[in-house]
Amino acid sequence: RVIAGRPADLAGRRLVISAGGTREAIDPVRFIGNRSSGLQGYALARTAVARGAEVTLVAANVGLPDPAGARVVRVESALELRAAVLDAVEGADAVVMAAAVADFRPSARSGSKIKKTADEPDAIHLVKNPDILAELGERRREGLKPYPRVIAGFAAETDDVLANGRAKLARKGCDLLVVNQVGDGLAFGTPDNAAVVLVAGGEQVEIPRGPKEALADTVWDLVAARLA
Ligand code: CTP
Ligand code: CA
Repeated sequence: RVIAGRPADLAGRRLVISAGGTREAIDPVRFIGNRSSGLQGYALARTAVARGAEVTLVAANVGLPDPAGARVVRVESALELRAAVLDAVEGADAVVMAAAVADFRPSARSGSKIKKTADEPDAIHLVKNPDILAELGERRREGLKPYPRVIAGFAAETDDVLANGRAKLARKGCDLLVVNQVGDGLAFGTPDNAAVVLVAGGEQVEIPRGPKEALADTVWDLVAARLA
């Protein structure tokens, strides 16, 4: 549900949003995944459309209907998400990486289903996935097109939330980092969220517990201000 009466302050803006959580295949029937529902990314897409933006939503394993008015690209793994985001970023004004991207993937995907045997199972060997958000920040720093003018990320932290968030914002070279505290019935799979948006340059915007659409609107306020 989109609250009526939004400004059309994103009219003509091309925005890319990633949502959901990636899955890293172990074999044809199994994967390593995470608990991201995609609700926050979808709320970002709905509110951006309502504010007049042209939206590409890169959705990883989300069991939600396509938001009206957005172009939706469905992906599964981190490598697929990276390719889809880099493709969509061409000519885009801003990117918001709301997806939970797996940090690691199995180094090899078994072509056939791994069978239970009398022996103990083999360990699953993992390799690092590329950091898409950091890569976008790096491209912009180096002036390597395509890159978006405004780059935003999300981070779920459990300890030293603000200090970890500031370090992450700097490390990834983004403009905004929405830091969620996980737990207390917040974040994963719930309609509500509470967060602090850390802005490059030191500003900090607190978002009280409320619907994910309210958080989304605050993110767009900050993005619109940086695009103006
Ligand atoms: N992200 C990304 N590519 C990755 C991992 C994360 O683009 N391989 C993005 C996420 O979409 C999110 C932001 O980076 O917007 C922060 O993700 P997070 O997992 O909190 O950061 P990490 O650098 O992976 O740090 P941590 O060790 O805390 O997981
Ligand atoms: Ca991570």
